[in-house]
Amino acid sequence: MVVIGAGAGIGLETARQVRAGGGQVILVGRNPERLEQAARDLEPIGTATFDATDTDRLQRFFQDLSAPVDHVMVTAGGPFYMPLANMDLAAARRAFDERLALTLGTALYSRDKVRAGGTLLFVGGTGGRRPGVGMAVMSAATAALPALVANLALEMAPVRVNLIAAGFVDTPLSASLLGDQLEARRAELRARLPIRRVVGPADVAALAVHIMCNDALTGATYDIDGGQQLLPH
Ligand SMILES: NC(=O)c1ccc[n+]([C@@H]2O[C@H](COP(=O)([O-])OP(=O)(O)OC[C@H]3O[C@@H](n4cnc5c(N)ncnc54)[C@H](OP(=O)(O)O)[C@@H]3O)[C@@H](O)[C@H]2O)c1
Repeated sequence: MVVIGAGAGIGLETARQVRAGGGQVILVGRNPERLEQAARDLEPIGTATFDATDTDRLQRFFQDLSAPVDHVMVTAGGPFYMPLANMDLAAARRAFDERLALTLGTALYSRDKVRAGGTLLFVGGTGGRRPGVGMAVMSAATAALPALVANLALEMAPVRVNLIAAGFVDTPLSASLLGDQLEARRAELRARLPIRRVVGPADVAALAVHIMCNDALTGATYDIDGGQQLLPH
């Protein structure tokens, strides 16, 4: 499996579970120290350090793969909050374009590299489904992803293409976004979520492994949020 966004969080945990199950991994991330640490733990058959939104670099990465792979998982890319009141239009366009290009680019450049029955697996979120101040661009990207994935599933067949839509997941990304509010957010979720606990990267990784292994699944979006969307705001 290739994991694009393997230095931390959901991607790193999925790579860990795949290794524990006897699979081989190739790890991609931006931050060399984080990637080296991951490589020490997981002994991948390859690593590559680059920003996956650089589509030329993404194309070269797939071109340079010396053998076909079974699965490509993309957890790269973060959320973007841009209130209209201080929106930079160029930055807004760039954020939307990068999400689109990362998804389409992964499909386009991996076409001859993924074995039949293997998967492309993208990770997005559920948070952008609810309108809010600063959410316009992220909501648009959130709405676009299931449509992209469904169409790509037809065009990539017999390779399968799926999307995981996560609610709050307790990862380094969440920690960096919330700062000193992290503990309060965890406590709030533990009290309010129907599952009465916080969703962690291992939960999402277990879903990812299932989607990769279950060859009946393609073209679909799988929510994992502990029931967060069911709650009033
Ligand atoms: N955590 C949540 O609550 C949550 C909720 C909904 C959706 N998601 C989505 O799930 C995905 C994974 O989130 P996470 O919480 O696991 O994030 P994370 O803890 O920040 O881990 C993401 C990893 O991906 C790498 N990465 C990010 N952008 C990249 C890029 N452009 N090119 C190459 N590598 C890149 C990061 O690399 P570096 O180490 O180089 O920084 C990091 O190692 C993201 O798309 C996020 O938006 C997360």
